[in-house]
Amino acid sequence: MDLELQGKVALVTGASRGIGRGIAQALAREGCDLAICARGQEALEEAAETLRGEGVRVVARAMDLTEPEAGGEFVAAAVEAFGGLDVVVNNVGGNRRKPFEETTDEDWRELFDLNVNSAFRVTRAAIPFLRKREGGSVVFISSIFGRETGGPGLSIYNTTKSAMISAARIMALELAPEGIRVNSVAPGSIRFEGGSWDRRVKEKPEEMAKFVEENLPLGRFGRVDEVANLVAFLASPRASLLTGTCIPADGAQGQSLF
Ligand SMILES: NC(=O)c1ccc[n+]([C@@H]2O[C@H](COP(=O)([O-])OP(=O)(O)OC[C@H]3O[C@@H](n4cnc5c(N)ncnc54)[C@H](OP(=O)(O)O)[C@@H]3O)[C@@H](O)[C@H]2O)c1
Repeated sequence: MDLELQGKVALVTGASRGIGRGIAQALAREGCDLAICARGQEALEEAAETLRGEGVRVVARAMDLTEPEAGGEFVAAAVEAFGGLDVVVNNVGGNRRKPFEETTDEDWRELFDLNVNSAFRVTRAAIPFLRKREGGSVVFISSIFGRETGGPGLSIYNTTKSAMISAARIMALELAPEGIRVNSVAPGSIRFEGGSWDRRVKEKPEEMAKFVEENLPLGRFGRVDEVANLVAFLASPRASLLTGTCIPADGAQGQSLF
């Protein structure tokens, strides 16, 4: 299926490795020009070079998206380079595991800044530009743990990931009349070289084999391209009836009924 993304402009946050990089790669293969960011310059430049190999234009900005001005600057850089914006993928995010009683205001502030505020600032800055194009699309990378309890130690992570899904739904309602779609994707456990699951498998192979057996019905971790393909579809005009939804990419790992 031609996703009809050729010549569109896409912005992907946190695209120097892992899921964000895979999403940028999938969008580049569909012919999108790309704006990407991450904090580490070297890995970001290497990712940008690889993406240019797909024959698209790439703007790479090394920045920390938890800085209040960074989201606006990133959007401005994309628009300056390409003259507009069609797709926004909010991928930057991380986890802090701790029993709730031990969590501090600082822990909550830090993870809200990383998982929620960074994405909201980018999206707010992008909306005026999405409005100027036909069929803008915003995708938030949440988690299956934004949809269900997950377990002890996950109070901060789950709250931030639920917040993304919840706000995306409202954004979808507010922006639907203007033809801008807003969706979330909820990955399950995704393994890639150097990622957190890969580290855990290498550190504790037996424990992780048990985890896979008990939690992953397909008997394996998810792959980056399996999330990236879904995001590329959601970003595309082919997904024109999909807005305000959250789609798991989890091989039936999640326990949520909906
Ligand atoms: N992997 C999984 O199993 C899984 C499951 C469910 C949900 N998710 C979600 O999927 C998203 C991506 O996960 P991942 O495993 O691919 O993460 P990752 O390996 O930690 O990669 C995160 C990317 O974001 C960049 N980044 C991190 N903090 C940043 C900041 N403050 N400002 C700008 N860029 C920043 C990183 O580069 P620098 O470090 O150089 O900044 C990197 O490019 C996250 O939102 C995560 O919560 C992942």
